Amino acid sequence: MKKLVVANWKMNPKSLTEAVRECGAIARSARALKKVETVIAPPTPFLGFLLKTKGVTFGAQDISTERGIGAATGEVSGAILKQFGVRYVIVGHSERRTRGEAGPVIAAKVTAALREGLTPILCVGEQERDEDGAYFQELRTQIHESLDGVPKAQLKNVIVAYEPVWAVGVEAERADTPEETLETVLYIRKIISEISHGRVQNTPVLYGGSVLPANASAFLKHGGVAGLLVGRASLKPRLFAKILKSAQHIA
Ligand code: PGA
Repeated sequence: MKKLVVANWKMNPKSLTEAVRECGAIARSARALKKVETVIAPPTPFLGFLLKTKGVTFGAQDISTERGIGAATGEVSGAILKQFGVRYVIVGHSERRTRGEAGPVIAAKVTAALREGLTPILCVGEQERDEDGAYFQELRTQIHESLDGVPKAQLKNVIVAYEPVWAVGVEAERADTPEETLETVLYIRKIISEISHGRVQNTPVLYGGSVLPANASAFLKHGGVAGLLVGRASLKPRLFAKILKSAQHIA
């Protein structure tokens, strides 16, 4: 199985020129790595300028719950995203949850992506890591809410990104440890197996949160993950190339 490494550019970079340059640099590294699928999720307006780049696939950072086209100011539907070569959609990222996005909307977005044949990358993660494992309950609730009403037959097409909130972004305390990630990955799979009535046993789970060249291999080797979701380091093509190479060696 190819490892999936996703560059979540968030609201970066600051110009189209930089976006084109960084995308080109990432693609040059990615093309040589046959055991890795490299996905770039840029801000939506950049997609149209990047879509012809060979060697990478594209993701969106959000999707409308609405179908097709219509009166929905500010929304971008899956049907529109597809025209720009988008294959994956990040849904329910913690930075969107802190901006008010909650379970029902996230579940509707997962459904919207699946309806268009796009692969949702559903982000889940606890706010804090407590000693006695109460965070597992938080994860369980998040997963149930985020998949509520999603057609059971489609659950096999969902990817989950485990991103503990305390490990994400500039204010992160640290990355998780691969050992604890492994435990959580197994737990996430168990919940999805329950929700799907046993039909989906092996949901691919990515790890995200302070991924760097120094820790990428360990997560891929010992964390039980199908790949990585990378924020800050994905905006530095040289660092990101090292992460991609680690994935190539482990796949
Ligand atoms: P980070 O972000 O790698 O900068 O911690 C990860 C993410 O938000 O997906």
